[in-house]
Amino acid sequence: MIILGVETSCDETAVSIVRNGKEVFSNIVFSQIDIHKYNGGVIPEIASRNHVEKILYVFQDAIIKSSIKIKDIDYVAVTKTPGLIGSLIVGIVAAHTFAYVNDIKIIDIDHIDGHIYANYIEHELKYPLLALVVSGGHTELRITYDGYEFVKLGETLDDAVGECYDKVGRVLGLPYPGGIYVDKIAIKGNINRYKLPLVYLEKDSFNFSFSGLKSAVINLINKTKQNNEEVVVEDLAASFQYSAISVLTTKTIECAKKYKVKQIVLAGGVAANSELRKQIVEKGSKLEDCEIIYPSMKYCTDNAAMIAVAAFFKLKQIK
Ligand code: KG4
Ligand code: ZN
Repeated sequence: MIILGVETSCDETAVSIVRNGKEVFSNIVFSQIDIHKYNGGVIPEIASRNHVEKILYVFQDAIIKSSIKIKDIDYVAVTKTPGLIGSLIVGIVAAHTFAYVNDIKIIDIDHIDGHIYANYIEHELKYPLLALVVSGGHTELRITYDGYEFVKLGETLDDAVGECYDKVGRVLGLPYPGGIYVDKIAIKGNINRYKLPLVYLEKDSFNFSFSGLKSAVINLINKTKQNNEEVVVEDLAASFQYSAISVLTTKTIECAKKYKVKQIVLAGGVAANSELRKQIVEKGSKLEDCEIIYPSMKYCTDNAAMIAVAAFFKLKQIK
C-alpha cells in the first residue's frame, strides 16, 4: 500500500511517500526554524503563512523525488489534530484537494500516533508496547496491546518537556529551539554544581510535572545574577537535563514493569535527546524480556513519513 503523508501541524511543512509503512520513497521537510528563531518561538500567523507559501513546492518535491506515479498512490493521509489550527488547515486543504483531483481516498491522522508509529519504519513493534511521547506540546505514557487502541497511563500536568527545554534554552541565552542546544552543552557540564528538584509526584502516578523545574532554573539564574556571579551555563544545562530525564526514565521503567510490556518506544522531538536515549537504555537493560527502541533523528522531529506510517496501521485496523 503506497501512502502519501502530509504534516503541517506546527512549523514544519512536510510531505512523504511510504510503501507499507516501511519503504520511504521520499521524505521532504521544510522547517520554519530559521523564520521563527528571531521571535524565540512559533508565531501561529507567521507559521500558517509560511505553510501556504511552501506547501505546493513540498508536494512537488516529494512526488518527484519518490519516482512514484500519482496513479500508484493508494491513500493520502493528513494530520488532523492536535496542532495550530491555521497551520493544520493548510495541510488539510492541500491534502484533500490533491486527493480529490486525483481520485485518491483520504484518511485523517492524529499527530501523536504519527510520532509513535515512526518507530515502525526501522523496527518491528512488539506488544504490549509502552510509548513515551515527548515533544514540544506533549509528555505522555501510552500503552497498546494490539498496536491500534492506545490507553493513556499518564501525562504532564503542566509544561511539556520539550516546551520546558525550549524555555530553559532561552533563559540560558541559547538559540531557538533550545532543546537540541541544551542537550549539546549539557554533555560538557557537571551535574554537581547546581542542585535542581526531581519532581516524581505521587508514587503510583505516571503523571509528570515540569513547571517547577523550569521555575527553579529561572530562580537560580536570577539569584546568581543578583549576587553578581556568573552562571556556568554548561553546568546548569547538565543539572536541568539530568533532573528532567531522570524523572522521565524512572517513571517509564516503573510503568513498563507494572504493565509487563515487551517494548518501550520513544516518540517525538525529545526522543532525539542523548541523555534520554542513554538513561532509558541503561535502566531498561535490567528489565526482563523488554526491548527499547527509538527512531533515527530524522523521524523523531515532525515529518510526514510518520503520518503515512500511522495511516498504514489505521487502515489495517479498519479492514
Ligand atoms: O515532535 P516535535 O518536532 O514537535 C512537536 O510536535 O512539538 O518536537 C519538538 C521539540 C522541541 O521542543 C525541541 O526543542 C525538542 O523537541 N527537541 C529536543 C531535542 N531535539 C529536539 N529536546 C531535547 N533534546 C534534543 N536533542
Ligand atoms: Zn510533533
